[in-house]
Amino acid sequence: MARHLITSALPYINGVKHLGNLVGSMLPADVAARYLRARGHEVLAICATDEHGTPAEIAAAEAGLPVEEYCAQQYVVQRDLGERFALSWDHYGRTSRPQNRALTDHLARRLHEEGYTEIRSTSQIYSVADGRFLPDRYVVGTCPNCGHDRARGDQCEQCGKQLDPTELIDPRSAVSGSTELEVRESAHVFMRQSALAGRIREWVDGQEEWPQLTRSIAYKWLDEGLQDRGITRDLDWGFPVDPEVFPEAAGKVFYVWFDAPIGYLGATREWADEHFAPERAPTEFDRWWRTDRGADDVTYTQFMGKDNVPFHTIGFPGTLLGSGEPWKLVDRLKSFNWLTYEGGKFSTSEHRGVFMSDALELLPADYWRWYLMANAPESDDTDFTWPLFGDAVNKDLVGTFGNFVNRTVSQVVRHFGEHVPEGGDPGDAEAALAAAVDARLVEYTGHMEALEFRKAAAALRALWAEGNSYLEQREPWRTIKVDRDTTACTLRTALQLALVDAVAAIPFIPATAGRLRTCLVGDREWTDRIDADLPATARSALTPGAPIIPPGLLFEKLDDERLSAWAERFSGADDARGATTPEVAT
Ligand code: MF3
Ligand code: ZN
Repeated sequence: MARHLITSALPYINGVKHLGNLVGSMLPADVAARYLRARGHEVLAICATDEHGTPAEIAAAEAGLPVEEYCAQQYVVQRDLGERFALSWDHYGRTSRPQNRALTDHLARRLHEEGYTEIRSTSQIYSVADGRFLPDRYVVGTCPNCGHDRARGDQCEQCGKQLDPTELIDPRSAVSGSTELEVRESAHVFMRQSALAGRIREWVDGQEEWPQLTRSIAYKWLDEGLQDRGITRDLDWGFPVDPEVFPEAAGKVFYVWFDAPIGYLGATREWADEHFAPERAPTEFDRWWRTDRGADDVTYTQFMGKDNVPFHTIGFPGTLLGSGEPWKLVDRLKSFNWLTYEGGKFSTSEHRGVFMSDALELLPADYWRWYLMANAPESDDTDFTWPLFGDAVNKDLVGTFGNFVNRTVSQVVRHFGEHVPEGGDPGDAEAALAAAVDARLVEYTGHMEALEFRKAAAALRALWAEGNSYLEQREPWRTIKVDRDTTACTLRTALQLALVDAVAAIPFIPATAGRLRTCLVGDREWTDRIDADLPATARSALTPGAPIIPPGLLFEKLDDERLSAWAERFSGADDARGATTPEVAT
């Protein structure tokens, strides 16, 4: 038994996330967490809302709410949607909470004491009309790189280039639209990444388990030479810097990308505070994060979209390494390419694509979970299309898994009642099936261990398909007329396989798989375990005569009419959903 810490990139607070956000971090993190629990490991799965920075402020202003109130509201919305997607976090926190503030202050002070911070005077955009500085997304203008006329001050959405607000052509305020802007000098705290580069590179060199996508992004940044990074901003919303540590930057707040990843620690501390007595909470926190206090045997896996990789391979490790304290660093960093929507981008501002709340209105979470993970954008960007979604549901869930279970259970019930059929003995066909199932399970668990989700889903689908092949070969609907014992053995074997299928599927489709498992094992003793013993455990849970409950149809088929109606509804072509088009893409 090992110990696994799992985090997914913390979703911005600024509104409901779309399916691309979901599949790029939160969903694969959950599939991994569920799998590792079913391997018998100790797992701590952590997520939180990322609440600081300009995205939060701008979204709050659009909603006409004070930013604290907006964040409190959206936190509940996002947590609730995550739960309805069956994301099995051990804790879902908030980066704005006091635990995160204390850790952010602590790490900033440590960086300062180790000589890795510096105060610099910088040129910032100041809006005379708004009476304030306009960092990051508060300025929009034309991208100097590609000419996109709605580029944000921190990054151009069209070409992806990271920008400084002063680089924008024809800049204007995202708050008021005013072009009456000046450049003013302002002192900020910088983290001296240039001085940390050697230690970061040495650490990256040692990360042999990172997949290619992650490594290449990290080395691209290291090879270009690390720039020192401003970690404070001229904003009201955020954690104020400690004026005793940084008197020159008093009144400023930490940059969202400084305190957000510290939120992984902050949310863990929230978890510890919630679950343990005050005197024990620090120890429980340390067990996951301090390698000198028990975290040396933790395997830490992070999940994120590829745009987040630089912050997790350079910025955040730089903070932890630079502190001079033995913090746990990421071991396995799984990053994802983009999910596009019908050939274009998901767009929050244009309401294009399917968002988590929309998805649950149409179908239960398992349908989406399966489609998204079986087609996860692992090696390349992947396009969501309604026909592909229909195929994943109709062919895999309905046609393969659902069909096998349904055929098996209905034959059992028709000929043997609501019990595991009694009679007959396994023969060559059952031995061959058992060998095939063992091989599929080896394949499946191997891909899951490697965090190769598409391949794991393919192996699971192949496991499900073994059941259908077996039924077609044994034809219980025919043998029942001539040989009741043989038929009993066939259907008993098929039921046992259905239980194996269900338990193996729990990480991907937990609600349906869990329901089927409960129908089959009832209140008999059972622990979900995905390992080589699963087929044997399933046999001992489904002995001849044991009662079962028919689960009913597991999934419903999607016809073309429904799929095209949905395609129409989510195309972003009309304002039927009350879309507003704010100035700033969020
Ligand atoms: N909110 C960021 C995004 O959605 C991710 C933050 S990850 C964290 O891109 F580590 F900084 F929290
Ligand atoms: Zn651009």
